[in-house]
Order: sequence, then C-alpha cells, then structure tokens
Amino acid sequence: MRFPLRYPHREDAVEADATAARLDPAPATQMGTPARRLYAGAKLERARTIADLRAMAHRRLPAFAVEYLEGGAEEEATLSRNLAALASWRLVARALKDVSRRDESVTLFGRDMPLPFAIAPTGLNGLFWRKADVLLARAAAQAGVPFAQSTMSNDPIEEVAAVPSLRHWWQLYVFGERRIREALIARAEQAGCEALVLTVDAQFYGDREWEQRRFTHPGRLTIASILESARHPHWIATTLSGGMPSFANDVDYVPEDKRGFFDSAFWIRANMDHSLDWDEAARLRTLWPRKFLIKGILNVDDVERAQRIGADGVVLSNHGGRQLDWTISSLDVLPEARRRVGSQFTLIVDGGMRRGTDILKALALGANAVLLGRATLYGLAAAGESGVTRAIDIMREEIDRDLGLLGASSVRELDASFLTR
Ligand SMILES: Cc1cc2nc3c(=O)[nH]c(=O)nc-3n(C[C@H](O)[C@H](O)[C@H](O)COP(=O)(O)O)c2cc1C
Repeated sequence: MRFPLRYPHREDAVEADATAARLDPAPATQMGTPARRLYAGAKLERARTIADLRAMAHRRLPAFAVEYLEGGAEEEATLSRNLAALASWRLVARALKDVSRRDESVTLFGRDMPLPFAIAPTGLNGLFWRKADVLLARAAAQAGVPFAQSTMSNDPIEEVAAVPSLRHWWQLYVFGERRIREALIARAEQAGCEALVLTVDAQFYGDREWEQRRFTHPGRLTIASILESARHPHWIATTLSGGMPSFANDVDYVPEDKRGFFDSAFWIRANMDHSLDWDEAARLRTLWPRKFLIKGILNVDDVERAQRIGADGVVLSNHGGRQLDWTISSLDVLPEARRRVGSQFTLIVDGGMRRGTDILKALALGANAVLLGRATLYGLAAAGESGVTRAIDIMREEIDRDLGLLGASSVRELDASFLTR
C-alpha cells in the first residue's frame, strides 16, 4: 500500500485515498528513496511552499499550539473533505496561448485587489506570535489584500485599524446579550472597517478532541504539555514575552471574575447565542452600514436567503473543518450556489487552500475570491510578519506561474471549462 489511509473504516475510502495522495507527495518515492524532507530551518527565503512554512511553524510551536492550529472536529472527516474536494478537480490547460502578461487581480466590493484572496478571521492568533493580528494586518496591507479580524482577536480593533492602507474586515461572533453584539458592531464601524463578517457556524464549539487531550481540565495543560512547551524558548520569547494574550475586544463584556485568558474564552464559548436565526441576522444587517458577509454557509437555500436579507455576499465555509464533522466542503456547493445567485452576488470560499492551483480551482468554479486560514497562519507561526509576507508571496508566485501554465492570462478568465473531474 503506497498511501496509508488515515480513515480505513470509512466507506469513502476512495476519497480518503485522494486525500492521502494529496498529503503525501509520494509518487516519485519508493521504499523511502529518494529521501525527501520539507524545509524546517530558520531561513525564511528557503521556504518554497506553504508546506515548508507549515514545517517551520510546527518546529517553533509547542505541541498544544500546533494542535490548536491544525486540529479538526471529531473524526476530522470535514477537514479531510476540504482537501479531497480540491483534489477531485483536475485542470485542463489551453495550449499555445499568449500568456506573456498575466493578471492575478480581482474586483471585490467594487475595489480592485492585486491578488484573489483575503486573510481569514482566526481567533487566538496571540498564541502564535505577540501582536499577531497587527502583523497579519501589516502583511495584508502591504500586499493589498483584506484582513478579517476575529472577535476572538488578541489585539484591539483600533490598533489593527491603524495599519496604513489596510482593507480591514471585522468578524462578528454573536454571544451574550444583544447589547454586546451591538457594541462590537458600533466599534467596528467607528474603526472604519470595510466589511462585517457574521460567522454563523460556531454557535456551538466544535469538539477538537486531539487538542482537548493536551489538557487535563479546560484551560489546564497536562504536565507533559507544559514541559514540552518549556522546550520552545523561541516561541516563549516571541509570543509570551508581554504576558499571556487577552481577548482585547471582548474582556470588557465578560464578568469581572472571568477575565483571565482561558476563563474569558470559556465564558464566551458558554455564552454563544444558540437562538441566533435569520431574523437576527437581518436585524444585524440593518445595524451595519457597509458591506455585510455571512460566513459559514454550505447550503444553497441559505445562500439565497442571505441574498434576500440584503447581505452583500457569503463565505462558503466549514470553518476549516473545526466545527460540524462530516460536512461537505465549500467547493462542493460552489457551482450550484453561483448558478442560483447569479454573477453579481459575492461568493467567497475557504477550506484547505494551500496552493496557487487550489485558488485557481475555486475561482474557476465561480468564487470571487478565497480566504486563507492556516496558510497564512503557518507563515505567522514560522516567522511573524515576514513569514506572513512569505506565505503571500508563495501564493502569488504559484498563481502567476500556474496561470501561465494553464494558458490563461488573467484569473478573471477562469471558468468551469478549465476543469474536469
Ligand atoms: C486556528 C484557527 C482559528 C480560527 N478562528 C476563527 C474565528 O475566530 N472566526 C471565524 O469566523 N473563523 C475562524 N476560523 C476559520 C477560518 O476563518 C477559516 O474558515 C478556515 O481556517 C479556512 O480553512 P483553512 O484553514 O484550511 O484555510 C479559524 C481557523 C483556524 C485554523
């Protein structure tokens, strides 16, 4: 067996096989030869791919933080599906096309951006580097791509908003009393955010079991994890030097005796609003004067409903495989969603994007842009701001080269005729 199946009990073994093939670049390797190793050293310029940045990040981070970064919910079937869905599409290149000029830019919300992706909202980035969201925002601004800041960010929204020329989006989690969400929306408006991203797939916290196994109790690491973390001095120096991160934008809404790092996270988690529904989403839409996206949708009827309540777009997403297990991937629903809503409604997709070709596939299936979650976090966790820039540069180089190889001179030309199963 060339590729060991991660989930041999599954009926969809073929799919698991496709995923394994994608994860294990083994076709040129037999019996361990040639011996291959990703770059995991300290010289950022030697990271050739997102996978190298991932290896560097894994080396720098303590194991519990790696688990937080990577883990999916339960059996990780959703996480697996994200990769398998991408792997199920093959590119069909056009020969003998003049591709001496190539254009990677797209228009999103009426504004051009040089690359067809934005940085996804991810919480707790302070676990990877101090002031992580400011660093992500700086790298995004430099590249001209939007950065979505999470409700669970560790940096004040105003500090991120102060990053020059940033397209700043605010991702909203709906928790606690109504006044809290309203205050957060007002703060995002005050900070000048271009878009509000309402995440709707995390009202319950997906069970990332492998991460939980690093803890004896919620918030208390096992002795083994504490000792293992102590063996990561570079991480400690660059991440914890200013003390434990806090949920800078939320702590004021948390009861005073629950404002510690873990306590506040658990309080918010326990107070997610389980009654959040379309009426409330429509109400939040009316409170927000700028672009409004709903993130975490995988059902075409819901995409249409989002359009009906006046959203400017949706992010088709399963939260990077971290919430409901055994879902479909955003790519599975994208073509039908595009067919239903027409060309004017913004469809952004995410999940498993690690290569330029992944992004080209999503665009060819009808996405306006994609979100990068872990890809840019690998860069961040490998080397801070310059690591994020490296991740963006790798994606830019791959998209540019792959466009040329595909025989397309612009990402705007891409459509389903460039793909086959
Ligand atoms: C470490 C981590 C934290 C995340 N935190 C949030 C969050 O706070 N809010 C949110 O809407 N999505 C969150 N997500 C989901 C991402 O926005 C995005 O949907 C997902 O990462 C895309 O998949 P990818 O990581 O395979 O690119 C998180 C994802 C990761 C990996």
